[in-house]
Amino acid sequence: MTTGRFPSFFFFLYNELSRSAPGGSAQSSLAIFLLMENTILVTGGAGFIGSNFILRWMESDPASVINLDKLTYAGNLHNLATVANDKRYEFVHGDIADRPLLSGLLGRLKPRAIVHFAAESHVDRSIRGPGDFIRTNVDGTFALLEEVRTYYGSLSESEKTDFRLLHVSTDEVYGSLGSEDPPFSENTPYAPNSPYAASKAASDHLVRAYHHTYGIPTLTTNCSNNYGRFQFPEKLIPLIVLNALSGKPLPVYGDGQNVRDWLYVEDHCEAIRTVLHRGRVGQTYNIGGWNEKRNIDIVETICDIVDEMTGSRKPSRRGLITFVKDRPGHDRRYAMDAGKIERELGWRPGETFETGIRKTVKWYLDNEEWVRDVTSGSYRQWIETHYSS
Ligand code: NAD
Ligand code: TYD
Repeated sequence: MTTGRFPSFFFFLYNELSRSAPGGSAQSSLAIFLLMENTILVTGGAGFIGSNFILRWMESDPASVINLDKLTYAGNLHNLATVANDKRYEFVHGDIADRPLLSGLLGRLKPRAIVHFAAESHVDRSIRGPGDFIRTNVDGTFALLEEVRTYYGSLSESEKTDFRLLHVSTDEVYGSLGSEDPPFSENTPYAPNSPYAASKAASDHLVRAYHHTYGIPTLTTNCSNNYGRFQFPEKLIPLIVLNALSGKPLPVYGDGQNVRDWLYVEDHCEAIRTVLHRGRVGQTYNIGGWNEKRNIDIVETICDIVDEMTGSRKPSRRGLITFVKDRPGHDRRYAMDAGKIERELGWRPGETFETGIRKTVKWYLDNEEWVRDVTSGSYRQWIETHYSS
């Protein structure tokens, strides 16, 4: 895509016109018009990674952002409060499976790129109720691809050359590793084990097929476990931080020896921008933190940081750790070989786990209001149902 072709010119023009014409005069309309030529559509941008991505994009790229999000329990517009009134940002409330909506949006906005985050993303929820995962991750991605196929067909040759669809996926599609196995590479055969992983694998295959069959310029990224600000506290790291803060039990599934590779969310967002700007069409890129950790080590580290940051070390929060019934079909180990994206595109994570986890714990400590908002109603119900058995 050519956000690289005119970015500084667009940014300069936008800033100049907006400065000289505050309050929405003809010049600022012209600036918007010019920038709408250079728009990206983000799906699922009110979620954890999508909102981090949009905030970063708005700081560093000139293209406008349209955020299409259904606002499920995981979507939170408060994450985007700082850009809500920015003229380069627009929120559209809707479902990726709504084809008339998609078709209207693509026709109206003519985006140069689509970054597709929208998904049901929590493994435990997929075990209790896989239906929503098939509807959004499979049917929704199919609907998006079909509308993109029509839209792509309507573009001029130069617009086709510029267009990209970037599909955001996960390492979980590759299945589970033994302790001595090499990490997942882009050539590892797919072997998804949970309904979540299977639904993401299906969407990856559809994206691949739409590139090979219809020539849609796609890019797919498969990333390891993310952590950072705005993560809904059903996932391990924010759940443990919040339970540790309020002195509740810290549930560790099974023996706590399962291994995940962890990446700070802002590094993931930077990797996605890198692939979008410079990735080779039709390719997939694995993204990871080169940072394998056992769950029990993650939980103990968080206990120690919360003890330190709150100044209340005695008794240590490690005493709250409670081993609970294992997740059915729990994958033992994930590990990512992120060598291809480094060799081809020069991306490497900027944050170590030690620095990233401290920033994350501090963010949850400093943002009580955000936490209060998301931990009401349906969240309480999920925690009660899921952890009572
Ligand atoms: P999330 O659950 O926090 O956010 C998902 C967002 O999608 C929410 O805002 C939700 O409202 C929206 N959404 C759900 N269904 C929708 C629909 N039908 N139409 C429109 N919007 C819909 O998820 P996340 O953790 O931010 O993950 C984003 C993407 O990254 C997902 O595709 C996920 O598979 C992938 N991923 C996540 C991780 C991780 O560790 N969280 C790692 C690798 C890949
Ligand atoms: P999670 O954050 O749900 O991500 P994923 O399942 O996509 O990897 O879980 C990360 C790991 O932590 C996983 O091995 C399951 C484990 N886990 C617990 O031990 N206790 C918990 O309460 C949760 C939510 C997860």
